[in-house]
Amino acid sequence: MSENDRRPMFAANWKMHLGPADAEAFVGRFRDLYAPRGDARVVFFPPYLSVAAFLAASGDRPDLELGVQDVHQEEGGAHTGAVSASMAAQSGALWCLAGHSERRREFGDDDELIAAKVGRILAAGLRPVLCVGETLGEREAGRLEEVLSRQLAAVLTRLSDEDRARLTYAYEPVWAIGTGRTAAPSDAAEAHGLVRSEIGRAGGVVGATILYGGSVKPGNIDELLAAPGVDGVLVGGASVDPESFAAICSSGR
Ligand code: PGA
Repeated sequence: MSENDRRPMFAANWKMHLGPADAEAFVGRFRDLYAPRGDARVVFFPPYLSVAAFLAASGDRPDLELGVQDVHQEEGGAHTGAVSASMAAQSGALWCLAGHSERRREFGDDDELIAAKVGRILAAGLRPVLCVGETLGEREAGRLEEVLSRQLAAVLTRLSDEDRARLTYAYEPVWAIGTGRTAAPSDAAEAHGLVRSEIGRAGGVVGATILYGGSVKPGNIDELLAAPGVDGVLVGGASVDPESFAAICSSGR
């Protein structure tokens, strides 16, 4: 896949939902609802335990790509409960999230740790999706630009030009995640513009794919995808239901 693939990207972050049996049932239903289409990319981020079931159920549908939600910052060793980027690659994953706000908040993934993880993800040959976004308090305090700039620079300044060119991004306002509140398309467009200019300032690819995430659903996908600078979506809650995620992925068809 080329690095400047301009097709819209639909990504499903299942978080801690859909164990192996549920993942198999999901894929069985989803593939009936969603025929392969050459003009979109679809990527699933199941929990680790469901990776094998996902692959078994989607084996003859290479258009349904696999990613993982997190990796450890070390290559291997005595880290009980953790999974390395190279193990994820060996399992068949192509993508990995980094910096999701739930990791930042619940697991203490700070900018430095996220930068280390992105380095491992790239070294393993996976494609990182670097997630950034502000809390409501930060937005209301007028700190949107500062927060996005800090989160992006922390990672981008540690990477080579070649590695920077391999990043995909997700702008996810924390106040819109799992809340039912979605950024207005104009707010999403503004934030994507800020993300893009910061990427440029930090030596990244200004035209990189930037997903929007935060309460995306069938009812708002069209207007969000139409917002300038929005290249796709990262979907949580609405991605664990095959009907609603298939409807989202069929936007524009
Ligand atoms: P949500 O989650 O769609 O449930 O708001 C999005 C995300 O966290 O990626």
